[in-house]
Amino acid sequence: MASAWKADAATFWMQQSARLLWREAPTQAQAGDFTGTAHVTWFADGRLNPTESCLDRHAAARPDACALIWEGQDGRTIRLSWADLLQRVCRMANALREAGVAKGDRVALHLPAVVESVVAMLACARIGAVHMVLFGGFSAEGLADRLDDGTPVLVVTADEARRGAKIIPMKRTMDDALSRATGDSVRTVLVLAVTGADVPMTAGRDRALGPLLDGADTACAPAILAAEDPLFVLYTSGSTGKPKGLVHVAGGYMVWASLTHEVAFGCGSEDVFWCTADTSWITGHTYVVYGPLANGTTVLMYEGLPSWPTPGRWWDVIDRHGVTVFYTSPTAIRAMKAEGNDILEARGLDSLRVLGSVGEPIGEDAWTWFHDHVGKGRCPVVDTWWQTETGGIMIAPAAGAVAPRPGVATRPLPGVEAVLLDAAGVPVVGEGEGNLCLAASWPGQARTIWGSHDRFVATYFATYPGHYFTGDAARREADGYFRITGRVDDVVNVSGHRIGTAEIESAVMRGEGVVECAAIGVPHGLKGEGLVVFAVVQPGGAGEAALKALVADAIGRYAVPEAVYLVADLPKTRSGKIVRRLLRKIAAREIDALGDLSTLADPDAVGRIIAVVQGGG
Ligand code: PRX
Repeated sequence: MASAWKADAATFWMQQSARLLWREAPTQAQAGDFTGTAHVTWFADGRLNPTESCLDRHAAARPDACALIWEGQDGRTIRLSWADLLQRVCRMANALREAGVAKGDRVALHLPAVVESVVAMLACARIGAVHMVLFGGFSAEGLADRLDDGTPVLVVTADEARRGAKIIPMKRTMDDALSRATGDSVRTVLVLAVTGADVPMTAGRDRALGPLLDGADTACAPAILAAEDPLFVLYTSGSTGKPKGLVHVAGGYMVWASLTHEVAFGCGSEDVFWCTADTSWITGHTYVVYGPLANGTTVLMYEGLPSWPTPGRWWDVIDRHGVTVFYTSPTAIRAMKAEGNDILEARGLDSLRVLGSVGEPIGEDAWTWFHDHVGKGRCPVVDTWWQTETGGIMIAPAAGAVAPRPGVATRPLPGVEAVLLDAAGVPVVGEGEGNLCLAASWPGQARTIWGSHDRFVATYFATYPGHYFTGDAARREADGYFRITGRVDDVVNVSGHRIGTAEIESAVMRGEGVVECAAIGVPHGLKGEGLVVFAVVQPGGAGEAALKALVADAIGRYAVPEAVYLVADLPKTRSGKIVRRLLRKIAAREIDALGDLSTLADPDAVGRIIAVVQGGG
C-alpha cells in the first residue's frame, strides 16, 4: 500500500507535477541521483512561474475569495482576496524591478511577520529574483555573514518590529550588518514603515518602500523560469563551518510544497490554515507561503507571541478566524500547556480539524495535551519530520490515512524512501534504530549549497554513498512507524532553532583569555534542548556574562547558552579529543551514569568539572 507509488514512480511524479500551472509542461520527472556529484533535476524541461500557481489561477477562478488573513498584535486585521494579494505582489514586483532587481539576482528580505513579508517573497518569485529571507533575531554579524555569502543586490527591511511589549530595531541592525559586511553587493535598501519610527536613511542607498509601492503598477508580467532555476536560498546551521545557504528551485520544490501540504493535512481550498512559523524558516516558506497558496487555501498570519498581551491570545485568533488546521512547534505547545487548562477551556476551538507539530521532537506529554485539550480529542495530531534541506514534510501521519500515535512521526509520505543505516552503512531491517537516510531523491530536495556544491556533496552524501544522510537518528517500531530520536551530529535544537555547536564555540573562543571550550546540548523542559558551554579561561580573562555577550553578538540572542561553566580543564581522551558525551551527562546532572573514566587522559578532571556545575557556575 505505502509503496504503490514506487511501481511506476515516473508516472506518479508526472501526475504530481500537474498540481502546478506550467507555461510549458515538463516531459520528464527525475534525472540524476545521489551517486557521484549528486546532481539531481526534476521536471527539467518544464517552464513556469511559481506565482501563477499561487496567485493568478486562484485570482482568475475565485477573485473575491479570501487568500490571506493577517491579525496584528494590536488586533488590527487585514483580509486580502486572491485578486488583492495578486495586485499587492505585482506592485512589489514592479517596485523591485524599478529598484534595479533582475532575474537571478538575490534579494535579502529582513522583515517582521507583516503581510509584506509574504508579498515580498512572492514578488521576488514573480520577477525570477532569488529571495534569501533573514531571521529578525540574527545579530548584525549573523546577518553580515549571510549577506557576504549570498551577495544580494537589494535588501528589504523594516524600520522596526513589534514583539510583545518589545520593539526590535530592524533597520538599525541591518545598517550595522551592512557596515560589517565585507562585500559590497547591496546597492539598495528598501525600508518598510511598520511602526513609523524615524530611522536613519543613507543617501543614495536607502529608500522608503511605501511611496515606491504606491506608485507601482498593479499588474506585472511574470518572468518565465526553468523548473531548475533557483527560487530561494535559505540559510541553516550544520555541525561545521558557517551557515550554509540551501538552494531550492522553482519547479520541484513547488510540487513538493503543494503535495505535502495537501497530503499531510488533508488541506484544500475550504481550509483556513495557520502555520505559526516565521517566514524566515523553511516552515514559513513552505507552509505559510508556497504550499497553502499553491493549493488555494486561505492562509492565516498572526504577528505576535502566543500569550501577549494576555495568555490565550492564539486560541482567540483560532476562534476569531475559524482556523481549521493549526500547525505549530513543540516549544509553543509546551509554553501554552504551562499556562494551565483554564485558559483553553474558556475557548471553543470548534473550527479545528487537524493539528500539526514541527521542528523538534514533541514528546508524548506535549502530544497528548495538544490532542486532548486543544483538539478536544477529535483532531488528529500530525507530527511532521523534515528539514530545511528536504523542502517539505517527509515523515508524518498523512491526515486520515495513517493513524497517529503520541510522539511518533509515523510513516514516510508517498515518494519518500526513508531507510535506517547502522554505522557501517548496513540497513537496519525491521524493528531497530539507525541513522535516518533517504535512499532516493524527491522533487523538493535542496539542489545544492549556494556557492559550494562540494560542501553539499561532502555534508550530505559522503557518509553513506548513494544516500542523503539527514543528521538524525530514528527508531523503526514494530509496526513500521518511525520515531525520530534526535540529531547525531553537533547540532543542537533550541526551541526549534538549529544551532551548530561549532558556531557557538568559535564565538566563545574570541573571549579574552579563552584557551578552549566545548558547547553541548542538554534537555530543557520548555525549549526542548538548551545550550551549555564549558570554557577554560586564563586567570583574569572573560567571565560568563562576557562570553554570553559574544554569542549574542556573533549569532543572535536566541543562541545565548543557558550556562557557561568556567572550568580548569575539559575531559579528554589520551589522544586529546574532548569527550562531549561526558560533558552532556554532567551538564544534565546525570553524574551517576558517567561510565568508565579510565580511558581519559586525566580522570580527575571530571570531579573538578562536576564541582563547578554543582556549585552553580
Ligand atoms: O533534528 C530534526 C528536527 O529539526 C531538524 C531540522 O531543522 P530545520 O532544518 O531547522 O527544519 C525545521 C523545520 C522542518 C531535523 O533534522 N526536527 C524537525 N521536525 C522534527 C524534528 N525532530 C523530531 N520530530 C520532528 N517532527
